[in-house]
Amino acid sequence: MRTSTVLLTALTAVISYYVYSPLPHTLSEPWKLMLLDATFRCAQDISNLAHYVGLGHHLHVLNFVSSYFDKLDPISTLNLKVTDTVFDGVEVRIFEPEKELDGTLKRSIIYIHGGGWALGSARTRSYDSLCRRISEDVNAVVVSIEYRLVPNVHFPEQVNDAFVATKYFMQPEVLARYSVDPHRIAISGDSAGGNLAAAVCQQVAQDKSITTKVKLQSLVYPVLQIFDFNTPSYQQNMDMPILSRFVMIKFWLDYLNGSHSFAHAMLVNNHTSLDISETVALRKLLNWNSLLPLSFKKNYEPVIQRVGNPSIVREVPALLDIRASPLIAHKDILQKLPKTYILTCEHDVLRDDGTMYVKRLEEAGVDVTHDHYEDGFHGCMLFATWPTYFSAGARTRDGYVKWLTENL
Ligand SMILES: *[C@@H]1O[C@H](CO)[C@@H](O)[C@H](O)[C@H]1NC(C)=O
Ligand SMILES: *[C@@H]1O[C@H](CO)[C@@H](O)[C@H](O)[C@H]1NC(C)=O
Repeated sequence: MRTSTVLLTALTAVISYYVYSPLPHTLSEPWKLMLLDATFRCAQDISNLAHYVGLGHHLHVLNFVSSYFDKLDPISTLNLKVTDTVFDGVEVRIFEPEKELDGTLKRSIIYIHGGGWALGSARTRSYDSLCRRISEDVNAVVVSIEYRLVPNVHFPEQVNDAFVATKYFMQPEVLARYSVDPHRIAISGDSAGGNLAAAVCQQVAQDKSITTKVKLQSLVYPVLQIFDFNTPSYQQNMDMPILSRFVMIKFWLDYLNGSHSFAHAMLVNNHTSLDISETVALRKLLNWNSLLPLSFKKNYEPVIQRVGNPSIVREVPALLDIRASPLIAHKDILQKLPKTYILTCEHDVLRDDGTMYVKRLEEAGVDVTHDHYEDGFHGCMLFATWPTYFSAGARTRDGYVKWLTENL
């Protein structure tokens, strides 16, 4: 009897430790989100433990725990042909709606999944069903890119994979093979996939050997910069479920193959202090005091260190690369970009990454639609179906699909 009481108390303590975290009431379904977040944190703790006892790299373990049993074979239905193939060495999953009898060409969306450059897959249930949904609703050919992940490869391999597959697909003879209209192609992605989509779009815009033009880019709560971890949204949402500020910094360090020992210094922006000449000019390009609306800035103060830690940039030079932080691209590159859709969520550390890109693109003369969700949280677009249904999930997905349908 006493043992079971102790066990029950311990179990309750463990569960409340994992599950309970005070969340703002403006969030979509906060209790459900607490449970979802607890599941993620539990998976992270298991993989850190497995890493610690030598079972494998924590990201391998996490990917195994989160997606190994969840990968689906390409299953075609009556009106959707789904196939896995390879584009110039890069794996892709293709979703093709039934061909038109009169030979009319289809629109197309190149999709790049999220997961911190380390997790997820075009073959997981969540991304497979999202791409099916997009393909059916927009009546478009969707190419979902299975780029290689951290820790097997690091930056810039993820960008290169996404770019190589995109470039291959955009050749006139390949587009013809899939009955795709070369004037109606979009590049899109969410989270780290939004980062890759933005980088690929900038590369395509500068590559004179690509004759096909991208009509749209559509970025869903994208990661766009590594310079400032104290934007108002990073400060406001540092402990928000699904993606905390510290976890985001560790995803960045893993992506750029930097040591986690830099993470605490980066929390206070010691990697971009005023005594590091390489980063001073770049930080000016993302001065959020001028790039964000008052309603986002609230009373947050910029965090700019006079003296920081110059060894971080020396050890992780990729930190300065525009392909890692598309937000710092110069105006002459931004001017070449297509019509853009950016989705942001209020309860997301990355809200201001996306919002600053909206402003920089507008200043460069690009036509931008900014869709902001007051009750949204990071990753919500994937949670639009049972058993992880959130109303913000369904609304973000429907809004995203609607914009593509109307503009592509
Ligand atoms: C990543 O960093 C480790 C340790 O600093 C180094 O040994 C390895 O070669 C690096 N990998 C790549 C792909 O640069
Ligand atoms: C940031 O850099 C300063 C100057 O080198 C140092 O005194 C401080 O401890 C650093 N902060 C962190 C969190 O690393």
